[in-house]
This record gives sequence, C-alpha cells and structure tokens, in this order.
Amino acid sequence: MNRKIASIAASVLVFAFVAPSATGVLARTAHHHGVTAARPAASLPKAPKDPFAKQDKKYSGQTITYYGGSVGTDHLADVPLVKAFHKSTGIKVKIVEQPSDSTATLSFLQNLFTQGSSSIDVTRLDVVWPGTFGRYLVSVKKPLAADAKLEIKSLLKNDTVGGRLVAMPYQGDFGMLYYLKDLLKKYHIAKPPTTWTQLTKDAKKIQKGERKSNKNFYGFVFQGKSYEGLTCNALEWIASYGGGSFISPKGKVTVDNAKAKAALKLAQSWVGTISPKGVTSYDEGATQNSFTGGDSAFARNWPYMDSPAILKGTKVQGKVGVAPLPHGAKGKSSATTGGWQIAVSKFSKHKGAALAFARYYASKVVQVWRATYAGIVPTMNSVASVKSVKKVQPFLSTVGKHTQRVVRPSTVLAGNYSKGSTDIFQSVNAILLGSKVSSTVANLKSELQSLHP
Ligand code: GLC
Repeated sequence: MNRKIASIAASVLVFAFVAPSATGVLARTAHHHGVTAARPAASLPKAPKDPFAKQDKKYSGQTITYYGGSVGTDHLADVPLVKAFHKSTGIKVKIVEQPSDSTATLSFLQNLFTQGSSSIDVTRLDVVWPGTFGRYLVSVKKPLAADAKLEIKSLLKNDTVGGRLVAMPYQGDFGMLYYLKDLLKKYHIAKPPTTWTQLTKDAKKIQKGERKSNKNFYGFVFQGKSYEGLTCNALEWIASYGGGSFISPKGKVTVDNAKAKAALKLAQSWVGTISPKGVTSYDEGATQNSFTGGDSAFARNWPYMDSPAILKGTKVQGKVGVAPLPHGAKGKSSATTGGWQIAVSKFSKHKGAALAFARYYASKVVQVWRATYAGIVPTMNSVASVKSVKKVQPFLSTVGKHTQRVVRPSTVLAGNYSKGSTDIFQSVNAILLGSKVSSTVANLKSELQSLHP
C-alpha cells in the first residue's frame, strides 16, 4: 500500500478498515455503526477494449491509481474495466476503493488535494463536487472532446468550473421507490403508493402481517445516516411536498416553511415505527442489505439496485418492482439528481495515461457495457436508447420520466456546498432522532444563511 495513501486514509477514514488484498489492489470494507456495506458476489462479463487504444498505447508500461467507487456494482464493474484497459493499452490501473459513504470520500479528497499529493491520478467525483475541487483538476475539454459532444449538456455545465471542463460525467442517478410485488399482492394493495401518507399506511399494514414470521421486518428503509445520502433523501421529501430545495437557485434560504416541516415531521414519525430505529445510521449498503434480504416492503435507493448483478440469487429476485417516489398531498414526485464524473488530478505525475483512462471510463462503449451489466444509468442519450440498455433499465422511461428531478444547492453554494450539506444532513438526522422539527429547521435556516447571506 502506498505510504501517502495509507497516512491520508488513516487520518480521515478513522472508521474504515483498510487492508491490502492478495492482488495488491486495495480492498476496503466500511463499517458504519456496525453496518457493513453490501457487496455483490457475482462477476461481470468481459469489458470492451479501449476505442482509443491506438493513441493511448504510447503510455504503455505506466501505472496509474484510480480512486473508484465501492457502492452497489461500482467495484464489480471497475475490475473488468481496468483489466480490459490494460490489455488494450498496456497502462496498468491500480484501484483504491472509496469509502461507501461519499461524505468520507469528500474528506479524503480534501486532504489529498490540500496536501498536493500525487498518489491518486484519477478519481470519481460526485455531481455536487466540481465546485469544491475544480481548482485541483486538469481540463478534460480537449482530450475528451469527442465524447463530450455525446454527453447531456446540463451535466457538462455542472462540470464546468471557472470556464474549464474539469470532469466528464459517466453515471447518472435519481431516487426511486422499490417495492416487493408479492407482498403488495398478499396484502391486497393494488398499486405502489403515490403519496407518502399512503406509503406510511401500506408499510404499516405489510409490516404488521410479516412480523408474525420475521421479527426483523420493516415497512420502509432509506438513507437516514448523517451523511450526503440523507441530504438527497430529505430533498426528495421536502420538494415532493412543494417545500422547495433548502436554498433557491438565486440564493434565498427557503427551508423554513410549513410544507418542508410537514414532510420532515412525517419522516420523523417513521423512525421506530415503519422504519427500524437504526435507519438513522443506514446508508445505501444497509438499505440494500435490508431490502434484498427480504426484510423490508419498500425502499428508497438509486437505480443500480434494480440490476441483475445485485438481485440475482437474493431472496427477492423476480419480486422487485420500481416506481416514482411518493409525494406530499398536493406535491409532485421528486427525485434527487445524483451521479458521478471522472476527473484527473493536477498533481498526477502521469497525466497522459490518466486522461486516457478517464476517456475510456466515460466513453460510449463503456457506458453501454456498464448500463447493460452493472445497472448504472448512462449520461449519454444515445446510450439510454441502445436496445440492451432499454431492456435492463426500463425504469429510465417508466420511472425516470414521471418524476421531477431536483438538484441539491451545490451550484449556488459552490465551494461552500459541503458545509451547507453537512448542516442539512446533521439537522435532518437530529430530527429523525427526535429533535423538535420547528426549532431544528429554524437553526438550519440561520446556518445556511451564514453560508449564503
Ligand atoms: C449516489 C449519488 C450521489 C450522492 C450519493 C449520496 O452515489 O449518485 O450523487 O451524493 O449517492 O450517498
């Protein structure tokens, strides 16, 4: 294990266990309050070769380090990708897995970049981070120009900081409602709930019945831990009540309103009733464990959980349905825009090889492969319309088009976003743990105002 990475990992990932695996690639299992991230056991088919191999071969023999994902199918897909890239270019890519909690990854990168460390050449970046890290990243505009033309324009805009394109999108994300079809049938529920109040009722009914045979059964699981995922969930609740998105695009702090508070009150009532008490420490992995283990009727998660790579061989295989997230009485179904980009560090000592890998990683052929086998939502419309993708991701049209997309206030807060999101998820987590909604929201309002007066 690289010393620098080890020291940074030790300083920021105090709760993560880091161990070198037999292959020399770092394997890491994150333990959060006793919750271990779910990891599929399957392996994926061979990945496509690098379409730009001819040009990229000039870096043959170089080794770069990629800071890649560890949630859902992330790492499962990275292993064959890195192998195929090496085979076609001769460039070796070492994978360092990010913590499953993106807030912990953010701290790691903050440390890495402020130290000017060259130990990571390429990293994946959350859609809300370009403003935070833009100054540490090289421009990908020229080397990735051909692919940029295929990308969704709003994402390119999101990845442009101070006029420079600093990252290339490769994964889209939006929140969805997962449910078990057999249980809806068993409890005579005709269709998945469209309002949160209905979800609460349906979840109670199913939970009451299923508890007779499964003491660990709950009605609804979601990401309630104090981290970025909770900001995403809370935004969906609040926006779907017509309560705004914490801060308006013009910078006005809007969170202290009756609709937002009604949404948060309902969410608070779930903890210890239709959701486990421990949901206040659930991330995506814990959500997946509960749902795929057959221990919950409804779950909120990102689209990848609907892929065969995750569901095959689990208790719920063949029983999973997906639907737009529910909404408040007069609101609209709202899904937080998530997603990931690939970027090259300005401290990299192998920028050419690193850019070559980034170009491969975000390329159309790889996006098709990743969407088909790993359930990852593409960021190119021409990939979404490929037959094999449509077949495994019917939710792109059945759910994706029936929900309004809502964005976190990352553009308006720019470099202050991580502080703002921390204020948001800490306040909402406190509410889930029982803090008074009105005073907690009033405090959050003043915290956000101090970031964006
Ligand atoms: C998903 C989303 C990302 C979000 C994260 C929160 O990975 O793609 O945008 O920040 O979940 O846990």
